[in-house]
Amino acid sequence: WPAYAPLVHAINELKKQKNAVVLAHNYMTPDIFALVGDYVGDSLGLAIEATKTEADLIIQGGVHFMAETSKILCPNKKVLIPSMRAGCSLASSITGADVQLIKQRYPGIPVVTYVNTSADVKAESDICCTSSNAVAIVEHIAKARGVDKVIMLPDEFLAKNVARQTDIEIIAWHGRCEVHARFSAQDVREMREAHPGVVVLAHPECPPEVVAESDFTGSTKAMSDYVGDHSPGKVILLTECSMSDNVAMANPTVDFVRPCNLCPHMKRITLENLYECLRDETNEVLVPEPMRARAYDAVMRMIEVSF
Ligand code: 13P
Ligand code: SF4
Repeated sequence: WPAYAPLVHAINELKKQKNAVVLAHNYMTPDIFALVGDYVGDSLGLAIEATKTEADLIIQGGVHFMAETSKILCPNKKVLIPSMRAGCSLASSITGADVQLIKQRYPGIPVVTYVNTSADVKAESDICCTSSNAVAIVEHIAKARGVDKVIMLPDEFLAKNVARQTDIEIIAWHGRCEVHARFSAQDVREMREAHPGVVVLAHPECPPEVVAESDFTGSTKAMSDYVGDHSPGKVILLTECSMSDNVAMANPTVDFVRPCNLCPHMKRITLENLYECLRDETNEVLVPEPMRARAYDAVMRMIEVSF
């Protein structure tokens, strides 16, 4: 903490001067998560917060699609991201042109798009979803359109995990999260053997066989809430490394087993580049009209259904 203190102080002062807010994802390192994040949470929580903030300037502590989502929702605010290289393997697995081709192949079938996508993909979609509302969104749009199948893009594993929880038929794409795809069912079995009694929580971007071996699956916020509500003696969070660090701060009595996979994109956001970005107002994220307006409809439909 003492090494961070001057930067943290400078960031918090600049935020006040510029009426800026830092929206920080649960995968940010603890210095950002705990010391400069004004709002911390999962993808859905960050998007909802963007619609509510009265700040003039949003600094996204997260990856590019999250900053785009903030801009889609807040076209009159300035949205900055500390590193333009903070991408996502899911977002880069599909383009808006791909979605147009899929829609031609399956006419009349609604498209549910994970928020981990670029604005041009959202603009081609009927509705967005996140890991915390995917089942509800699939069922909502199928009912609203009077159909028994939906297209769900781009995460193959999230789509398969959702398919196990609903009767709606899911047509999936082949995108994968490079972080969660690395966990295997064998890993879970070995961890259970090494740590008897451990509670295993898995993010739904993990392969279905990993989710099947786990005790609970949910978004990053749902995992964090689970630990807070149940105070398990020993827990494993099958997700990005910083989650355990952040959840551990609020749950000092819980023992965290830490088989962690780093998200290289999330880790491109540092306290240093966040400070420089806020100071110099660099790396503005822009989304051209009318793409933004079409993407807005898809994101807002999701937010409306989530309440
Ligand atoms: P959530 O925080 O919405 O669960 O998303 C996880 C993720 O991988 C974001 O990139
Ligand atoms: Fe994308 Fe996976 Fe990183 Fe999340 S953890 S930003 S889904 S690559």
